[in-house]
Order: sequence, then structure tokens, then C-alpha cells
Amino acid sequence: MKTSHTFGGDWTEQKLERLQKYLKAYTTIFTKNERAQSLIPIYVDAFAGTGYRTSPLQLTKSLKLFEEFTEPEVDNFLKGSARLALEVEPSFQKYVFIEQNTARVGELQKLQTIFPQKQGNIQIIQSDANSWLQGWCRGTDWKRHRAVVFLDPYGMQVEWTLIEALAKTKAIDLWLLFPLGMAVNRLLTKGGKPPPAWEQALTRVFGTEDWRKNFYSQKTEPTLFGDIDVTVKEADFLKIGKFFVNRLKTVFSEVAENPLPLRNSRNTPLYLLCFAAGNPRGAKTAVRIAQHILRP
Ligand SMILES: C[S@@+](CC[C@H](N)C(=O)[O-])C[C@H]1O[C@@H](n2cnc3c(N)ncnc32)[C@H](O)[C@@H]1O
Repeated sequence: MKTSHTFGGDWTEQKLERLQKYLKAYTTIFTKNERAQSLIPIYVDAFAGTGYRTSPLQLTKSLKLFEEFTEPEVDNFLKGSARLALEVEPSFQKYVFIEQNTARVGELQKLQTIFPQKQGNIQIIQSDANSWLQGWCRGTDWKRHRAVVFLDPYGMQVEWTLIEALAKTKAIDLWLLFPLGMAVNRLLTKGGKPPPAWEQALTRVFGTEDWRKNFYSQKTEPTLFGDIDVTVKEADFLKIGKFFVNRLKTVFSEVAENPLPLRNSRNTPLYLLCFAAGNPRGAKTAVRIAQHILRP
């Protein structure tokens, strides 16, 4: 029986569909471009999971259906990002899947059997994505390589230092799930500034303390006992999203202006699917394609 990996909802489909579309466009252009013939294209999935997933809805249905049986072997596993990337043709020349969880790494290894012709090109790394990738950015010869990196965390795991390192290579196209409503908006507390640990987490994600002046203002309010100074939250989903896109623009050559909000069934934007291109030569084309793919 597979190690179950349940996450997401309808929005997960939207995310993965768009990623796969871009990967197809990327490798197609790459294969046709004469200048790119000497370069090695790499796909990096830095929060790779297992290669498949069950949606929470499917899992509930399956469990109900099989509740008399001891082992509900779910045959409706959906494909996850690592597997979808391996299906893309023309292929990448190398695949790097990073995952911290041991059981999930075990599942990822099975992909080598499912795709025997690509087996030698798949590297599976059990590590923290932030530290491993920063070392990889420093250690790779970017005159010979290009990469698409997908960062798909559950929450606040992606640190700004990683985004900076990816951008600095000037050779990476980045797809990133920014935890807009899932985490960031919640950490930006109403009725006063966030507690210190949350402030630090926000600074780690934004790579600056400027979020304070962007998302909070000081006001004076009259009370029965005289005027008091209060801190007021000014941030909403739109403002937070714009702030993050502007942060990406400080390090990447070009950034998609229409990141896609991925909403839950109550229409709350949980994540923002963002795209940024690092290679100055290809960035305009890459962003044009990504913006087309990101249309709602
Ligand atoms: C949302 S899931 C990824 C889903 C996957 N992209 C897919 O489509 O199938 C996030 C994954 O990141 C892993 N993870 C969490 N923190 C990590 C870290 N710091 N480094 C590497 N992997 C991490 C979790 O174990 C989990 O499997």
C-alpha cells in the first residue's frame, strides 16, 4: 500500500495543470532553439512530496466506500508535480526531487521504476530544500545549465535567502506557491503588531522588514481616558500579493504581473501561484508565456 499523501483541493489541479503547461512550453522551445543546444535543462521540484496525491475529498469518498475492508487501497491517486514533470515531452535532461520526509522519499524513488528510460537522470535528495538548493545554486555551472524550479511548500517554508540565490544564477525560471491566506495574512494580526516569532517568520519570507510600514499604520484614537496610539492592520490579500510580487522584482529579471490566487471552496485565496524569470535574455518570453498560462 502506498504512503498516503493527502493535500489540496480543486485549486491543486489548477496549480499542477499550469505548471505542466509551462514545462511543456519550456522544453519545446528549448529543444527548438539552436543557441540552447549546448545547455542542459534541469527540472527541480524542491518540495516534491511523493509523486502522487489523494485529494481530501477523494480520500473521504474512498474510505466510506471501503469501510468494511481493512485496507482501503485507493486506486484513484492523482498525479503530483514530480510525476507530471516526468511525463512532459520533450524531456528535461535532469530531474532533481527534494523532499524532507523519509517515507515520501521512498515513494519518489519508485518513480525511477515507473520511468525506466529516465532513471539515470533522476536525482532524489532527502534534505531541507532551503539549504540544499542554496548550495546547488552556488555549485552549478550556470554557463552550461538552465533550470525550472518549482517551490510548492505547505506554508512559510520558503526563505527569502533561497529566492535570492535562485535569482542570482540568472539561469532559473521560478514557479512558487506563496502562502498568502494560508499563513501570511494570518500572521499579520489585527489589533496590534504580530508577536516576535511571527514577525521573524514574516521577515524570513519577505527578506525585509519593510512589511511593517506597508501593512501597519499608527493612529491616535480618543478614549474616555485620553488619546491612545494604536497599531492598525492595513494589509489585505491584494496588498500582500502586490508587495510580494514587487519583492520578486527586486531580484529577478522579469516577474509575472498576474499571479493566480488559488482559492478554497469559501473563495478565500489560500495561495498565490507566482512566476519569475531569471535569465535576462529569455525572461520577457518566459513571462509572456507564464502570464498567458496564469490567466484565470
Ligand atoms: C504541498 S506538498 C508538495 C506536493 C507536491 N509538489 C505535489 O504536487 O505532489 C509539500 C511537501 O514539502 C515537504 N517539505 C516540507 N518542508 C520541507 C523542506 N524544508 N524541505 C524539503 N521538503 C519539505 C513536505 O514533506 C511535503 O511533502
